[in-house]
Amino acid sequence: MHATVGIFDSGVGGLSVAGALHHMRPALPIRYLADTAYFPYGDRAPAEIAARALALAQQLVDEGAALLVVACNTASSAALEMLRARFALPIVGMEPPLKPAVERSRSRRVAVLATPGTSASGRLARLRDDHGVGAEVAVLPMPGLADLVEAGEVTGPRVQTMLREALAVPLRDGIDAIALGCTHYGFLRATLARLVPPEVELIDAAEPVARRALSLLTAAGADPGAGGAPAGVRWSATGGAAAFAATLERLRAAGVALPPLVLEPAPAPVGQNREGARR
Ligand code: DGL
Repeated sequence: MHATVGIFDSGVGGLSVAGALHHMRPALPIRYLADTAYFPYGDRAPAEIAARALALAQQLVDEGAALLVVACNTASSAALEMLRARFALPIVGMEPPLKPAVERSRSRRVAVLATPGTSASGRLARLRDDHGVGAEVAVLPMPGLADLVEAGEVTGPRVQTMLREALAVPLRDGIDAIALGCTHYGFLRATLARLVPPEVELIDAAEPVARRALSLLTAAGADPGAGGAPAGVRWSATGGAAAFAATLERLRAAGVALPPLVLEPAPAPVGQNREGARR
């Protein structure tokens, strides 16, 4: 039996990581939790996000995951250290790919697109101190952008206007790399590519995070699904299956490549009685 990887995010964003993992190891079973009842994390207080992260991680551990991926930059900023202190299994988090962006930039000018929560986080401040030295880093908080993606809107005037307005000054200043600091934004790659000059590189952390998860699984002695029949991604959403399934449909219709997804028949509720569900 292959080890199961448990992945969570506030919504669809982490499917970019699940998709990268599935692409690398099609037989690897993946369990995906979308915390849509609490979406968006980007506007919530870190303590509230940490409480949700704990409940979701606990659920995935209880279901037998061999490794967790916190496929959300905002939740990783708020809760990664706490989760690692709490659980014995390997946990992979996400952070805006500022380091590769600065390394690949020739102009030494880069932008980071992130949620308001990630933009204000100590984790991003540390990243800038560690990897942004000698470079100009424009951090662009994008309130509302993940919401559009979560609604399945990855093209069209609203998304384009939001991105164009945020990027106008950094592009004029000569950025040549954009770090996608929210997993939802990976689904905007095609739209972004049409808005920026071809020399501007779009850098997403989904693939490196998937690779890291596989190497940790191997190091832990678990079978990372090297052979066998393809496994789908078993998903459930705390805000209800119908709305999430409709979003998946919209994303697919917009040309977004998603891994094979299978609805988990009877998911256990995840901390449903906590206060603070959808405002
Ligand atoms: N996907 C999440 C991230 O990577 C954020 C979306 C949200 O605001 O909930 O930061």
